[in-house]
Amino acid sequence: DKGGHKHYMAKEIAEQPSVLTNALGFYIKDGRIELPGAGIDFTKIDRLTMVACGTAFYACLTAKYWFEQIARLPVDVDVASEFRYREPPITPGTAALFVSQSGETADTLAALRYCAGKADRILSVVNVPESSIARESDLALPILAGREIGVASTKAFTCQLIVLALLAVKAAQDRGEMDAEGVARALEQLTALPGLLNQALALGDRAAEVSRKLAEARDILFLGRGAMYPLAHEGALKLKEISYIHAEAYASGELKHGPIALVDKHVPVIVMAPRDALFEKTVSNMQEVMARGGKVLLITDAKGADEAGDGVWDTILMPEVADFVAPILYAVPAQLLAYHTAVAKGTDVDQPRNLAKSVTVE
Ligand code: F6R
Repeated sequence: DKGGHKHYMAKEIAEQPSVLTNALGFYIKDGRIELPGAGIDFTKIDRLTMVACGTAFYACLTAKYWFEQIARLPVDVDVASEFRYREPPITPGTAALFVSQSGETADTLAALRYCAGKADRILSVVNVPESSIARESDLALPILAGREIGVASTKAFTCQLIVLALLAVKAAQDRGEMDAEGVARALEQLTALPGLLNQALALGDRAAEVSRKLAEARDILFLGRGAMYPLAHEGALKLKEISYIHAEAYASGELKHGPIALVDKHVPVIVMAPRDALFEKTVSNMQEVMARGGKVLLITDAKGADEAGDGVWDTILMPEVADFVAPILYAVPAQLLAYHTAVAKGTDVDQPRNLAKSVTVE
């Protein structure tokens, strides 16, 4: 049942405010973060190793910024297909965390089995509680996204991010890096997300308008800085999966180290940049693109649009949002652009060619 939507993907994008509300309600009780079962005590952990594939991998990369910045916990992130063949040493005090919507991805499960008996704790963030990855973990944290049918992951991604953000706040609190006031503020910012996502979803028509232009491109670049950098990767992955347009993501500051050679008047460059502490640097990266005739699509808030000035090709105006939770909100325009570009191209949105929902072979 597509609930009145043309595609499962559209339905699942639209469901995000309500599934995020469920997840927040599950983990936040009386203003405190409560994990199921025995939970985890981050005072006993001094390194986190995160492993996943695809979209779940980009959720891990985003979470690395959170764990390192707010909890001062060192984090390694790896794609599952590379992880175990490298035979990484797992030092005492390491928790290993596996993120998987299906809980059945072969490489991620194999990486978990590699860590079993080596890591202090095996944690997982999963959508399917009875899956192999959940069953073989010491602690499985559900994302409560509900069944995801569209092959391109959308609501599972934002639910993974919410659970990882809560875990990072818990780690910060356990490790004495965040006081009660800081925790309360972080939880407020997370709790504000469903409302903000509703506002972002209202930009659907705007995204559709821009997407009709994007649909004509052969190559598209995504740029982001800080925690927006992994999101740039997620935006590029979503777009290539369902619209078959070649898309690449770069850290904004990396552009001048090579990829800027690709920029000309045919290449849209999508810059995901809320007005944060690094915004000024992003503006100068954007100017480098525009000076070479590149078409910049800026996704930012009113302050950002104001500071960026003239010369951009187009702008998608987002609500203002706290830096900490911005990647979760900005996932929405990334999804909407991919979706509407695919619709404009007439591709099979829910069943893209060559792809399966769950990859249970290596
Ligand atoms: C992208 C997508 C894939 C999955 C990846 C991992 O839209 O859906 O990249 O994210 O195959 O799958 P899970 O999360 O089930 O382990």
